[in-house]
Amino acid sequence: MKIDFGKTAIPGAGALVVGVAAERRLSATAKAVDRASGRRLTRAAAAGRFSGKRDEILDMPAPAGLALSRVVLVGLGDVSKVDALAVQRLGGAIAAHLDHVGEKTAAVAIDAMPGATLGTAAIAANLAYGARLRRYRFAKYRTKEKNNDQPTLAALTLMLDDPKRAEQAYRPLAAVAEGVFLTRDLVSEPANVLYPATLAERARALLRLGVKVEVLGERRLEALGMGALLGVGQGSERESQVVVMRWNGGPARAKPVALVGKGVTFDTGGISIKPSAGMEDMKWDMGGAGAVIGAMRALAGRKARVNVVGMIGLVENMPSGTAQRPGDVVTSMSGQTIEVINTDAEGRLVLADVLWYCQTRFKPRAMVDLATLTGAIVVALGHYQAGLFSNDDALADQLVAAGKAVGERLWRMPLGEDYDKDINSDIADMKNVGAGREAGSTAGAQFLQRFVGDTPWAHLDIAGMAWSKKGDAVTPKGGTGYGVRLLERWVADNFEGK
Ligand code: BES
Ligand code: MN
Ligand code: ZN
Repeated sequence: MKIDFGKTAIPGAGALVVGVAAERRLSATAKAVDRASGRRLTRAAAAGRFSGKRDEILDMPAPAGLALSRVVLVGLGDVSKVDALAVQRLGGAIAAHLDHVGEKTAAVAIDAMPGATLGTAAIAANLAYGARLRRYRFAKYRTKEKNNDQPTLAALTLMLDDPKRAEQAYRPLAAVAEGVFLTRDLVSEPANVLYPATLAERARALLRLGVKVEVLGERRLEALGMGALLGVGQGSERESQVVVMRWNGGPARAKPVALVGKGVTFDTGGISIKPSAGMEDMKWDMGGAGAVIGAMRALAGRKARVNVVGMIGLVENMPSGTAQRPGDVVTSMSGQTIEVINTDAEGRLVLADVLWYCQTRFKPRAMVDLATLTGAIVVALGHYQAGLFSNDDALADQLVAAGKAVGERLWRMPLGEDYDKDINSDIADMKNVGAGREAGSTAGAQFLQRFVGDTPWAHLDIAGMAWSKKGDAVTPKGGTGYGVRLLERWVADNFEGK
């Protein structure tokens, strides 16, 4: 879909989209069309019980005399309450509607409304952003799709008084959208196609944007002493990898911010094998790594003025004659030993070594890891918020605020000494599970905390968020790209130029 910004004019073809605020207050363009058509808009709105509530949509054939196909009225509700997120959702709903009715081109009139909090440039940019986010599709494996199953909208024009400013506001958002799409692509890709080496290759493609990329294979990881990560991968035919991505957009000597991702390209559970029902979902057990790659893409794509390190641990967790067994003891890069009680609690083993390596090599200002770590976080929070665990209150607050701003919400969960005792082992420094089914997500987080030293650190358990079976206004069902917008905003608001 081509997106452009232009001055307001009634187009000669396609759909015209106009806003209507609460209590049927027409925008300037809506009023003009209404007046020129003998009050057709007002009458259609009344007949269709359309009052201008937020997200209401009324589709009507274009009044005689206009060369349009249709006029679409969009409810804005109370315009003083329409923030950037609400505009993005409106953009998503408009795009979905236009595809649904089979429209090819559309122009949206963005008129100033009395009482509105956002300026027209911000509205236009966020509307376009929301439309793009919603129209993402993962269609590469559909070979028999009929033409009328495909989305139709090919061009969307945002019309306003100052199109230049809207275009400027849109540019960084478009870079973030590219990051979100990259993550959705990676999360959707099946595990026969996306395994550690091929996922590393996808990360390497960020070279094109000026990101430095190092790929470490098993020999290098052995030399570094990453026994915890390597133990998880040892049952797989695929070589485990760690990828280090660096975007240096800030001052040469400024310490970086670090993003760390769990990249289990398929999680069978290993010898502690999972039940077969739903196991196909475990292709997206690399959602944390996917989000880190997408965030690097977003930051590099808009040339963020900040230094960021992205590190991902890539393994496939398989049962086989070479797989690690329950009861095995492995030595992590930190020197701490781990008794592997359950080979399905593998994400923490991978992250233990990557967090340690990241923290000792880069001394980051702050380190945030993302992982589809536990089923327990889905039990606690459902598919609405990710779990946040942190050793630093200020960092936790920053992340919660960033999440609210972009609509990727986080709920803080506890850490504490009592929980920490639950992961003590009788024969090693720790074990990889806690007290049975109790506080399972915190047990995972406590485990990770033993590998972060004094670094301000946060762990985001995104097991409920990486994939959506139903989608929302700006997210089609499937891989959501959760984390990209959140990380991008957190970096922008707290580190860029600081
Ligand atoms: N990848 C899973 C967690 C998961 C579950 C993600 C459902 C998305 C949806 C993780 O590796 C896992 O298996 N965790 C275990 C931990 C347990 C064995 C301590 C779990 O949650 O059951
Ligand atoms: Mn597992
Ligand atoms: Zn897993």
